[in-house]
Amino acid sequence: MIQLGYANVGIYMSLFGNLFRKPKTDAVFDVVSPNKRLVLSFLLDRGEISYFVSKDDKIILRKSKLGIALKDAQPLTDHFAVVRTYSRSVDESWTAYWGEQHEIRNNYNELAVYLEEIVRPKRIMTIRFRVFDDGVAFRYEIPAQPEMENMIVEDELTEFSVDTNSKSWSIPAYQPDRYEYNYIERPVFSLTESVHTPLTIQTTSGHFISIHEAALYNYGSMTIKLSNSSLKSDITPLSDGMRAYVELPFSTPWRTIQVAHDALDLTTSRMILNLNEPPKGDFSWVQPTKFLGIWWAMFVGEWTWAPGERHGATTEHAFQYIDYCRRLGITALLIEGWNDGWEGDWLENGINNKFMVATQDFDLDAITNYAHQNGVELVGHHETVGFIDNYEDQLEDAYKFLTQHGIRYVKSGYAGSKMTINGRREFHHSQLGVLHYQRALELAAKYHIMLDVHEPIKGTGIERTWPNLMTREGARGQEYEGGALEPSHACFLPYTRLLSGGMDYTPGIFDIANFSKRLASTLTRQLAYYVTIYSSMQMAADRPQFYADTYPDLFQFIRDVPSRFEQTIPLLGEIGKSYVVARQGWESNDWFIGGVTNEEGRRVQLYLDFLDNGANYVATIYRDSDDAHYRDHQLGYVIEEKVLRRGDKLEVYMAPGGGFAVKLQKQQ
Ligand code: NOJ
Repeated sequence: MIQLGYANVGIYMSLFGNLFRKPKTDAVFDVVSPNKRLVLSFLLDRGEISYFVSKDDKIILRKSKLGIALKDAQPLTDHFAVVRTYSRSVDESWTAYWGEQHEIRNNYNELAVYLEEIVRPKRIMTIRFRVFDDGVAFRYEIPAQPEMENMIVEDELTEFSVDTNSKSWSIPAYQPDRYEYNYIERPVFSLTESVHTPLTIQTTSGHFISIHEAALYNYGSMTIKLSNSSLKSDITPLSDGMRAYVELPFSTPWRTIQVAHDALDLTTSRMILNLNEPPKGDFSWVQPTKFLGIWWAMFVGEWTWAPGERHGATTEHAFQYIDYCRRLGITALLIEGWNDGWEGDWLENGINNKFMVATQDFDLDAITNYAHQNGVELVGHHETVGFIDNYEDQLEDAYKFLTQHGIRYVKSGYAGSKMTINGRREFHHSQLGVLHYQRALELAAKYHIMLDVHEPIKGTGIERTWPNLMTREGARGQEYEGGALEPSHACFLPYTRLLSGGMDYTPGIFDIANFSKRLASTLTRQLAYYVTIYSSMQMAADRPQFYADTYPDLFQFIRDVPSRFEQTIPLLGEIGKSYVVARQGWESNDWFIGGVTNEEGRRVQLYLDFLDNGANYVATIYRDSDDAHYRDHQLGYVIEEKVLRRGDKLEVYMAPGGGFAVKLQKQQ
């Protein structure tokens, strides 16, 4: 059904495909959301293109420019006339292979505006708008045309004109540690330096919005900064200053603005995934997993990545960890530092990394055989240190090498402040970086390999199309503990970074009071992360003796919690302060609740309205003890059981810097 809410009848007619007889250089087209509350207006004002957005008659974005500036050519921004328009409505559902939501509804009204310059060289461009109940999106589509076969993008002129007195939460862009920064709350008028997206804003009208992009391919990633009193896109440049080199036809990524009444509602928007294409082929082979790792022992200084006396990746350690996997019921094991290239300063020497040569003390064949016999899969590790030329030379053979050893999961890493691509130093988030991540992903799909990418390109929903992109890091994870993380960090993530997709936060550290890497956390908070930070590859990141011997009671939750969910219902929270979410297990009747708080303790009341009517649920509650505290009493916890039903209220205490986890098992 076509649903249109256009005020102007002439324009209304045009939406059914009328051809204009005279060039039309002035027009307004409204595209209205299915529930009619959100409106995007495209404006053509004497040939100049712009748009604005309102919700319930309140302005969200004021008039904001559109357009693209090109090298050696006039910008695509004015002298336009509308040639024709096309509209349609879509209401469909699709089934995810994994994720926070099994069935996803994709419901929007679309308007494509076909533009042509009224002056020479009379270039043509389409802007396609989609308006969902939870946000708006648009992209520029530039067809192949006689006057233009390719484009060098000097700048993208897209603006997002929110009231500059609005409040925002973001991380800085163009920094050496990529996305790995603490979130900063500040007014929009102080965003004079570029920040990464998703950029979360509370507008002066009280709405919560997230500015981001979807389907980022073959283009620099969008950062945002204030320019002439408006937020404007700042596409990550290549080393020559250009933003992208593209052949035509070309479509930019979608520019997205999710709009919600409450910050929690942003967290359930699936608009970014919906703007991506369905999977390219059959991905029924992808499989979410949990995994142990020869990993945290390196962070606490017990073992090393490099060969030597304390080398972590030895045959002996691998056998021990495989035994632990079997004991703990965890079916995958990551081993880092297994290959040639970690000697000396691995960041400097990363160019020597060899992805098919194991170190002498690591018998890959024996280890893979032993793993196989014990029902354990290895997670391979490719630390590229950003030396893309070196990596791409080996990439396909390296994937083949892994598959020959029965390895289907790879954690990749791109440590370092820039990438070396074609001999040039480029931002990870530049067009060349984006192209590399995509090549690696598509090649992985060819070999049925699933990826967990650290130091990645940010999520733009492409895992809908490439479901073997299981998870990413792309924010400060637990490896920053030991000083650089405050409890508020995990309370910012759900409303910022996690809007772009799942994250490998490496949860489940139980040795939180370790003197060399002390965590700003209580024990049960570590369990909460398995629910509050979604990842389809979820690590149990600590050394396994802490699971098997020290806290087997707490480990039970890690064993039980799934790494994909049927549905997700946020229960309460505030940006930077707290987040509590309930998730139903994938094709299961059980529910899991996780909650985290910042430096303040909180007692929360949870209404269990999502449970099935009339059924009893046995709740296992893992919570902070009343005297727990992330600084001086980290280890205090309580495990209790209750029988609960729909309509019951569950009260749980979170200590300062703490958190809780609940498993609700439905009784038959
Ligand atoms: C940084 C990654 O985030 C971490 O997980 C990994 O262990 C190191 N790089 C080494 O590759």
